[in-house]
Amino acid sequence: MCGIIGCAGRDGETLDVLVHGLSKLEYRGYDSAGVALAGSDLDVCKTAGEIDDLRAALEERSPSGSVGIGHTRWSTHGPPTDENAHPHLDCNREVAVVHNGIIENYQALRDELSTAGHEFRSDTDTEVVPHLIEDALADGADPEEAVREAIARLEGSYAVSVVMSGVDRIFAARNDSPLVLGIDDEAYYLASDVPAFRDHTDRVIYLADGEFAVVDADGYRVTTLDGEPVEKTVDTVDWDPEETGKSGYDHFMLKEIHEQPRALRQCLRGRVDELAGQVDLADLGDLSPRGIHLVACGTSYHAAVYAAQLFQQAGIPAQAFLASEYATSPPPIGDALVIGVTQSGETADTLSALREARKRGARTLAVTNTVGSTAARECDHAMYIRAGPEIGVAATKTFSSQIAALNLLALAITSVGDAREVISGLRDLPGAVQEILDTSTARKIAEAYRDAESYFFIGRGLHYPVALEGALKMKEITYKHAEGFAAGELKHGPLALVTQDTPVFAIVTGDDEQATKTVGNVKEVEARDAPVVAVTDGASDVERYADHVLEVPDTHRRVAAVVANVQLQLVAYHTADMLGRSIDKPRNLAKSVTVE
Ligand code: G6P
Repeated sequence: MCGIIGCAGRDGETLDVLVHGLSKLEYRGYDSAGVALAGSDLDVCKTAGEIDDLRAALEERSPSGSVGIGHTRWSTHGPPTDENAHPHLDCNREVAVVHNGIIENYQALRDELSTAGHEFRSDTDTEVVPHLIEDALADGADPEEAVREAIARLEGSYAVSVVMSGVDRIFAARNDSPLVLGIDDEAYYLASDVPAFRDHTDRVIYLADGEFAVVDADGYRVTTLDGEPVEKTVDTVDWDPEETGKSGYDHFMLKEIHEQPRALRQCLRGRVDELAGQVDLADLGDLSPRGIHLVACGTSYHAAVYAAQLFQQAGIPAQAFLASEYATSPPPIGDALVIGVTQSGETADTLSALREARKRGARTLAVTNTVGSTAARECDHAMYIRAGPEIGVAATKTFSSQIAALNLLALAITSVGDAREVISGLRDLPGAVQEILDTSTARKIAEAYRDAESYFFIGRGLHYPVALEGALKMKEITYKHAEGFAAGELKHGPLALVTQDTPVFAIVTGDDEQATKTVGNVKEVEARDAPVVAVTDGASDVERYADHVLEVPDTHRRVAAVVANVQLQLVAYHTADMLGRSIDKPRNLAKSVTVE
């Protein structure tokens, strides 16, 4: 999804800071990029394609200026072309604007501006903004007033940054789209996400909806859109810039898969008392829910499906919903606690579902990885999964950490009989994941089945969401067809698709009734000559019916889902690697999807 960077106070280095910042935002997904630098003139360079294409374009002509803004665009209005890339300009080429989000009333504004004689060069909604500013300037407004007036006319979601020729300031505003200021001793930064400037500073200010910032080489000022001063606190981010590099791994995804033991330890740290068999989430206050709705998208939805089962098992009516569905057709909420599970805390569908829930009087809780994210700020409560930044578009470590965090939450708000055992299972989880990372034979499985056109994943109970997640990972990064099913459902239709060319991954741990029934489903698959890969701890006899085995250690049944999933992450990763796919930035996908 789109990314913004801005910089003031780095004379002579502004362009480098902007391009470096854009490269740090690549993980959000984009299809064009551009920069604008302002000094006595306004200099703009933008191009469809990747940051390297922008670098190539900049070799021919290097803009200079004391302040600048940059942008990576993920198309929403109009295809990825040079013209549609940001920054966008007014008719006189004196105002440059970058924007994330969607301006809902842009067509009406564009019609009005066109009738008044403005010439548009792009298909974007964003381009109305520089033209509105141009009009306000022509009416006598000073630069700051002109930007405020233009912003006041926008409806929809935006994080906007503006520079102008002859003005050594950046103007910025946000509504429903993140924007954060970075402060170091001599320079100031602006970005849609901290990694864009984290190499320069760890001191940040999160702007809230309806706020307006003016940034120059000497400092920053934050007000409401109407100009009322706003006191902001400066936060310190607690992760290292190193964490956003690849640290020797070929891909961020592989690095993040390997970071899981550490991420899980961070999630659990200070929150469990093993001796007492208790979890301490006192900072969440008293939740005591009578019912729970979980809303989420993508991988986070799979964590939500898993968590709904935990709450149900503890006697609390709970259900997981796709956020996009919940936002437009919510069920009766009653006095349910509505939990948004969202790595980024910025997914538009999830925010929309949470807002709908709040509108209906529900209490809301964000389970998120991103401190200061919109979900964290808007919900009544926030619980952080502490996985550290995740750069690969395909979520890996955040899924594991979500599962760990939701287990803690379930322990904290329900009285589960075997709390001590669950806690000890959670404590062993980082080690169990490490064991898989050290011994996995997933690469061999990938080699065996890399040419298959279709993959199926089956599991029951807590392994059902793992089947869904295994399939999602496979399709996201290999571009192959993959589907996850509840194991018992296979025979009710999908079995018609099972042939000797469709590898079936079966997740079976333990030897309880669920395991026995899943083994029965594996037999049905085997009888149709499909190759079977069993992801198993060896407690059942599933290996007898499998062509390959991916071993997982013997763990508590609640955490077996995480370790089994790590094997599937590795299978998807190695398959995609062998196929030469763009693993960290799969085609058409974005890390943070900020439109509905
Ligand atoms: C996008 C990403 C997925 C992610 C989903 C939800 O679609 O590509 O990997 O699972 O958003 O993201 P969230 O930040 O809300 O967890």
